[in-house]
Amino acid sequence: MVNAESNNASTQLRRDLAPGMAMDDAQFEQWRDLLESRTGMTLTPERRSFLEANVGTRLRELGFPSYQAYYEKILYGPGAIAEWATLVDRLTVQETRFFRDADAFDLVAEHARNRYRECGHGTLEAWSVGCATGEEAFSLSMLLHWAANEAPGRRYYGVTGTDISLVALEKARRAVYGPRRLAGMDPYWQSHYFQTLADDSVSVIPELRKRTSFSQLNILELRHAPMYGMGIIFCQNVLIYFRRWRRRDIANRLADRLAPGGLLILGQGELTGWEHPELTPVAASKVLAWQRSESQNGNRSDHGPAR
Ligand SMILES: C[S@@+](CC[C@H](N)C(=O)[O-])C[C@H]1O[C@@H](n2cnc3c(N)ncnc32)[C@H](O)[C@@H]1O
Repeated sequence: MVNAESNNASTQLRRDLAPGMAMDDAQFEQWRDLLESRTGMTLTPERRSFLEANVGTRLRELGFPSYQAYYEKILYGPGAIAEWATLVDRLTVQETRFFRDADAFDLVAEHARNRYRECGHGTLEAWSVGCATGEEAFSLSMLLHWAANEAPGRRYYGVTGTDISLVALEKARRAVYGPRRLAGMDPYWQSHYFQTLADDSVSVIPELRKRTSFSQLNILELRHAPMYGMGIIFCQNVLIYFRRWRRRDIANRLADRLAPGGLLILGQGELTGWEHPELTPVAASKVLAWQRSESQNGNRSDHGPAR
């Protein structure tokens, strides 16, 4: 609920950040629609000041006289693709942390141990969809590295992190974090998987980085994603910004990329009332997850319409 106080604060913010350049309703709708059609993210009217502030800051940095002039640059101007990439980075929320949803990662650990031990699986592939600056993907890597090492025989894993933001992906590839990013993390993970650098920042160890790759992928374009036969698909805190029909569409497409027995994990409450004929809901009270049946292979090419 937006109260009068926060409304006033938001009006003040708009005045402060975009002097003389508040968007009118038509402009807001134009930018909101562009953002949604290209990224899937919806902007509520309460987040109008967020859009105005970020677009306004960017157009002033570039010296554009109006929202309209900048809008045309984004649509048709020279360097439109590069400029859109910059703006998208400013308009996406990239908040994340290592082992953010502890219950979901516990489920991943249990799943990985079972797959390695009982099913004789040699390799597990995991995918962090909307990985932001990499913490989620490296959390998966730590768990899979640990599970692979404690299982009998030779076990392998690979983790892919994808995101729409090139700036976030660049940070993920660097794999260097401020020391405070590790606060609260189990000392086991800290001591086994990070190295402290001269400036006190921490770096993910090369062994983990070798098995963790990052690439740009717009979740609206999953049909082009070269990921098939995934043992674990982890997609949290991305779909909350999307409309319900899109969440279902994306869940269907992700389900098609699971290997038999593979696990799909979304954020709690991010998708309700969704069912898939080849997936069974996992009975975990605090985690939203499904498992593909062992006999159903989801590795088909994904050119048809979403279910
Ligand atoms: C709040 S972060 C979530 C990070 C991580 N999954 C977590 O839960 O900690 C949301 C991420 O989704 C990404 N994102 C938003 N729209 C996207 C899209 N259309 N395709 C791919 N990634 C997208 C953003 O760039 C951002 O990094």
